[in-house]
Amino acid sequence: MAAIRVFLLLFINFAFYIVLTAAGRDFYKILQVSKNTNTDEIKKAYRKLAKTLHPDKNKDDPEASQKFQDLSAAYEVLSDPDKRKLYDRCGEECLKKDDMMSNGDPFANFFGGFDFHFGGESNQQERESPKGFTIVMDLSVTLEELYSGKFVEITRNKLVAKPAKGTRKCNCRQEVVTRNLGGGRYQMTQQAVCSECPNVKMVNEEKTLEMEIEPGMMDGQETRFIAEGEPHIDGDSGDIILKIRTQPHPVFERVGDDLYTNVTISMQDALIGFTLEITHLDGHKVKIVREKVTKPGAKIRKKGEGMPNYENNNLHGTLFITFDVAFPEKEFSAEEKEAIKQLLQQSSMNRVYNGIRGS
Ligand SMILES: *[C@@H]1O[C@H](CO)[C@@H](O)[C@H](O)[C@H]1NC(C)=O
Repeated sequence: MAAIRVFLLLFINFAFYIVLTAAGRDFYKILQVSKNTNTDEIKKAYRKLAKTLHPDKNKDDPEASQKFQDLSAAYEVLSDPDKRKLYDRCGEECLKKDDMMSNGDPFANFFGGFDFHFGGESNQQERESPKGFTIVMDLSVTLEELYSGKFVEITRNKLVAKPAKGTRKCNCRQEVVTRNLGGGRYQMTQQAVCSECPNVKMVNEEKTLEMEIEPGMMDGQETRFIAEGEPHIDGDSGDIILKIRTQPHPVFERVGDDLYTNVTISMQDALIGFTLEITHLDGHKVKIVREKVTKPGAKIRKKGEGMPNYENNNLHGTLFITFDVAFPEKEFSAEEKEAIKQLLQQSSMNRVYNGIRGS
């Protein structure tokens, strides 16, 4: 009875699947993007949805796995210009005909950064199979990339296990064997007991990892690519961890979400005011207009012109601009000196004080 029910269920699922694929899926709708969205936006949309739709996060939803497969298929097609062109022309059917759908593992095109804690911490410890080494790599990025965000591809040569002829010993363990020697005497010996596994050979394969440098990521922030690290012949591959390393920038210094920069202005501008533009990390101009006297070391604060906040890209830190005044190099003539005196009307002020301990 149970077997029939299972069969029926399978059949219904199968029928449902046929109806679904015959109709062709609307990949744009699945990714919640419009038809003219560019590739980076598609990647972003995929990344966001993959986080919320991941089956591990939707254990109560019986359709979670299907939804995730749809999402992966949508991403696979729309992120590839050739496949996308074909899909735009005549839908999923064309792709099927050209055999361009991988129909594979929906996790295959998963890129890193999804901190799912697959199955939770406890599961990790229960797992007995050995794991390959986890590789930690620095990823050098510019401040511009951290400001605007960017997708980067990392090509790496990876050893992968491929089926090979014959068998090999595996899952070896030490077991105690007791031998009956007769006459009430027994002998206990320890020996290695192994199972026979299909043989594998390690083959070098080129693999591309894709990572999104998200706006506002912090220096030292890590993105984990599950199972992309060193393989282990008897177990799972280790992970790869890419660690953000910010390159020094010639203009800006980052502290948290705030940016700092220095501007040297002329003494004339310091006295009479000025207008200046600073080119920001994405090329937009930050305009500064000042009419007052600017003293050396004066700071101007531009709210919202700092780095985007990682959690909420709509929030930005503050840009702090510190001014430095370039004094004139020229020698003044007697008349010029007189004119300056007339203009500034400052008597000589020689306050002598301990500058280290304060006033
Ligand atoms: C600005 O100048 C100060 C003093 O020379 C220096 O310590 C600081 O690093 C400079 N900041 C930037 C962003 O160049």
